[in-house]
Amino acid sequence: MDYKITLLPGDGIGPEVVGEAVRVLEVIASKYHHTFHFAERLMGGCSIDTFGSSLADETLADCKSADAVLLGAVGGPKWDDPSAKDRPERGLLALRKGLGVFANLRPVKAHPALIDSSPLRPEKLKDVDIIVVRELTGGLYFGWPKGRDVKDGRERAVDTLEYYDYEIRRVMELAFKLAKGRKKKVTSVDKANVLESSRLWRQIATQIGKENSDIQLEHVLVDTASMKLVTAPASFDVIVTENMFGDILTDEASVLAGSMGMLPSASLSESGPGLYEPTHGSAPDIAGKGIANPIGTILSSAMMLRHSFELDNEAASVENAVDEVITDGCRTADIGGKLTTRQMADEVIERLQ
Ligand code: IPM
Ligand code: MG
Repeated sequence: MDYKITLLPGDGIGPEVVGEAVRVLEVIASKYHHTFHFAERLMGGCSIDTFGSSLADETLADCKSADAVLLGAVGGPKWDDPSAKDRPERGLLALRKGLGVFANLRPVKAHPALIDSSPLRPEKLKDVDIIVVRELTGGLYFGWPKGRDVKDGRERAVDTLEYYDYEIRRVMELAFKLAKGRKKKVTSVDKANVLESSRLWRQIATQIGKENSDIQLEHVLVDTASMKLVTAPASFDVIVTENMFGDILTDEASVLAGSMGMLPSASLSESGPGLYEPTHGSAPDIAGKGIANPIGTILSSAMMLRHSFELDNEAASVENAVDEVITDGCRTADIGGKLTTRQMADEVIERLQ
């Protein structure tokens, strides 16, 4: 089969890790007789420098016409001025909204061989296998009104936490669907004791829970959920939550895996191309040194094979190769080793051939 993949390497370590994921995809293509057509575009800070915009219209159009999009990371100190009219992060949000990728899947597993890389006690990490489904195109990130003004002589800033029923329903249905192929448990995280939007969230979660009686549904308040993620992480299977709660909880959950550098993500829409990106950021402190961990991006490309191309065997072969690499003790700096980005990817590629 033929697939068109738009690459958005972005800033910082983005180009280094995307380059390695592309090498892995090329190996998959030749082994399983597929053709991947890669088109590289600028996005984020590098796009501000070249086009004056963090996401150019043509770039978004290219992404929309692709079968899938692979993104590295965006941002860096150069573009951090809070008064700047554009920021790399704005491009990322515009890309998510433009592609309509409402569900962000962030799986977190504690690989047995990496348990010592986590600051948590080993016995807590046994059997941790979580997937967080974060709503990605609504809530505080996009709600209106939003902005700053001066009211009664005082400076004021406003963000709005808004959800429509359909936005909650579609992400909830996806969470239940995922749970069917897993341990059959959904934890819906909200703040229904305080927020009106969370009361709608919980109402819809309850309705969908009734339609899926084979799945165990629990409601957990976000503050409690953040505590349980470190005290009883193995009690979770699928976690589904709104955009901002999901942003915070997924950084917390990444600690369970030992390093953020290991973690992939997939952002899915109703029918268009999916967006795949590692969970980590642009890591400006190590950019250009060739020492970043490419595994998060390599596993993101495995998620692309599975969710956008329905190539389950190909996806599993990448995931198994990564598993072996970790079991065999191959380590980049973030997980206590000395391998370079290229060497780590070479180890994966060797086990794919
Ligand atoms: C993430 C990041 C982004 C977010 C930032 C870079 C805008 O933290 O993908 O989790 O908040 O969604
Ligand atoms: Mg985040």
